[in-house]
Amino acid sequence: MVKRVRVRGIEIAYEESGRGEPFVLLHGFLFNRSLWREQAEALADRVRLITPDLRGHGESSVAPGSATMEEMADDLAALLDELGVGRAGVAGLSMGGYVTLAFCRRYPERVRALVLADTRAQADTEEQRRARAEMERVALKEGMGPIADSMTPKLLAPETFASRPDIVERVRSMILGTPPAGAAAALRGMSVRRDQTEWLPEISVPTLILVGSEDAITPPAGSEAMRAKIRGARLVTIGGAGHASNIEQPAQFNRALADFLGGLSV
Ligand code: MLT
Repeated sequence: MVKRVRVRGIEIAYEESGRGEPFVLLHGFLFNRSLWREQAEALADRVRLITPDLRGHGESSVAPGSATMEEMADDLAALLDELGVGRAGVAGLSMGGYVTLAFCRRYPERVRALVLADTRAQADTEEQRRARAEMERVALKEGMGPIADSMTPKLLAPETFASRPDIVERVRSMILGTPPAGAAAALRGMSVRRDQTEWLPEISVPTLILVGSEDAITPPAGSEAMRAKIRGARLVTIGGAGHASNIEQPAQFNRALADFLGGLSV
């Protein structure tokens, strides 16, 4: 059931399920909290899951300007304050991973464990910034239709795209449901995000890194680079998955998460 809270001048929509230690799941760009349906079902008997819609996505407000990773990290801190949660496990996929890293850097005392899925620590290249500016132009001028057409095949492994119309439809409908102004704000925020690579060795909480074996947006090499910099981090490759690894191969993804949580004894 969706809940809403007003913080920092915007409304954040979120869901809660399960019992136990708090564990936050942050979706990626153009997705929303429904991305985590299978994980919420699989983990409800282990942890208290908190799944927000990031600003400009799903049912959360769109704010003018850029939605920086730090803004979204501050939104999460405010949401946790409202919920009376001091410290939580935090997991993020792709842009959700950028926000997770920003949150961990800004509020290290509030992070109990980290999961970084299909994400990277590096900042954008100039070429990526140009591509984001072009995507922003298209979103604001033509709406999300052309973006759903161009992004859906890139987000999924070729096999998923060819043989799982249910997943293709789910991804398309999340993209089509993203407000163009929300997508534009996140594109601006991602293009100015800081490079976190040299800060990674300061992470001192248990960390799990997950990546789809065929992730074309944040390829496995970036995950391996993070693993090498984060003390004790474990990397699990999700076979047969692209960038949306948690919905493409939920059984593998959930097993890796459950093993990780088991090791934390939560
Ligand atoms: C995401 O899935 O969150 C985005 O594709 C990440 C990005 O564009 O860098």
